Amino acid sequence: MNIQGKNVVLGIAGGIAAYKICELIRLLVKDGVNVDAILTRAGKEFITPLTVQTLTSNPVYMDMFSIDFEPKIGHISLAQRADLIVVAPATADIIAKVANGICDDLLTTTICATKAPVLFVPSMNVNMWENPILQENINKIKKFYQVMEPQTGLLACGDYGKGKLPDIEDIFEEIKMVISPKPLLNKKVLVTAGPTIEEIDPVRFISNYSSGKMGYWLARIGRRLGANVTLVSGPVSLKKPYGVNVIDAKSAKDMHKAVLSDIKSSDIIIMAAAVADYRPVKRAEQKIKKSDADMVIQVTKNVDILKDIAGKRKDGSLLIGFAAETENLIENARKKLKEKKLDFIVANQIGEEGSGFQVDTNRATIIGKKIIEKLPLMSKEELAYKIFEIILK
Ligand code: PMT
Repeated sequence: MNIQGKNVVLGIAGGIAAYKICELIRLLVKDGVNVDAILTRAGKEFITPLTVQTLTSNPVYMDMFSIDFEPKIGHISLAQRADLIVVAPATADIIAKVANGICDDLLTTTICATKAPVLFVPSMNVNMWENPILQENINKIKKFYQVMEPQTGLLACGDYGKGKLPDIEDIFEEIKMVISPKPLLNKKVLVTAGPTIEEIDPVRFISNYSSGKMGYWLARIGRRLGANVTLVSGPVSLKKPYGVNVIDAKSAKDMHKAVLSDIKSSDIIIMAAAVADYRPVKRAEQKIKKSDADMVIQVTKNVDILKDIAGKRKDGSLLIGFAAETENLIENARKKLKEKKLDFIVANQIGEEGSGFQVDTNRATIIGKKIIEKLPLMSKEELAYKIFEIILK
């Protein structure tokens, strides 16, 4: 879902993590979101109104009784035009006020007056986070609003523990998730991504060029649409998608095992991983020494995970495969669709610029028993949306 044109009211309270919020504003504005920032009295001590105003290109709201709001009442107009209110950083003070229905400044009053969803992003010292009164307040606001969990790490005060602001990219993802419609609520989605690694010895392996990008986007978009997502990931260097249950798998055997553990409970299974078709018959215990003679590595076939799960999945579930081809794309993909008993297959041409492995874009043709849709070049994020659109149909 496109968040362009959405109105986000961003409440910045008085915590040291306020300086990180500049980056969040930048990401939102870059994506075409209108950001109305409310800076609390304490927030102003950590970040200047000029910085926020420059980044949002909007006035910064600080005073409940400012005449700048004329002729409309400030908190009501902000509350009404918000598609989402985000409070980041959410301090112990602001959380306590909202949990107890206190409206004594512009931010708390705007939250009280809105029908839009509200996302709290707490950040504070570990002892404050663990304080039982704070925890009680968190549990209270969780009944009505979305709350992100702080991260554990070294805090600005020098303490180590839970209380760090989540990564800005994760907050950005959560905003997209909260704003998106949820047609996949109560559905379980299983996605595979990345390559598998088949070891020859402790230092060498057989693998392929898959970066995991395609599968990771599918996992993110599935979650945005409301699903409970499990991502079985081969070894990749991507950041784990926020809010997704990730199971790491190294070899095809690991991936097979992980997929089987979730297969019975999954409603939608999408296999974007590039599973190695073969593995060495024997993995050497020690590094194989170089010699002058040529070397032959005998390989054996790996299990075809997709084929194997076709008969093991839950009744009524959807099974979607990918086909990566360098030639005869449609013909080969059709063959795989039939052989692997898929509901549909996403065929992508390898070797074409902007398509296939590693790049951020892809060009795919979606082939089902009845449908065939030839899609133009698009980002992998857009393609993931397109695949779910077809699933939802
Ligand atoms: O990860 P990226 O860099 O973003 O690249 C994306 C991608 C090119 C890897 C992706 O778009 C893609 O095409 N994935 C499938 C790659 C592949 O292995 O295709 P295949 O034609 O060899 O396999 C067909 C299907 O069977 C796939 O769904 C595959 O996951 C599955 N398979 C294959 C072999 C095997 N032993 N078990 C399987 O389940």
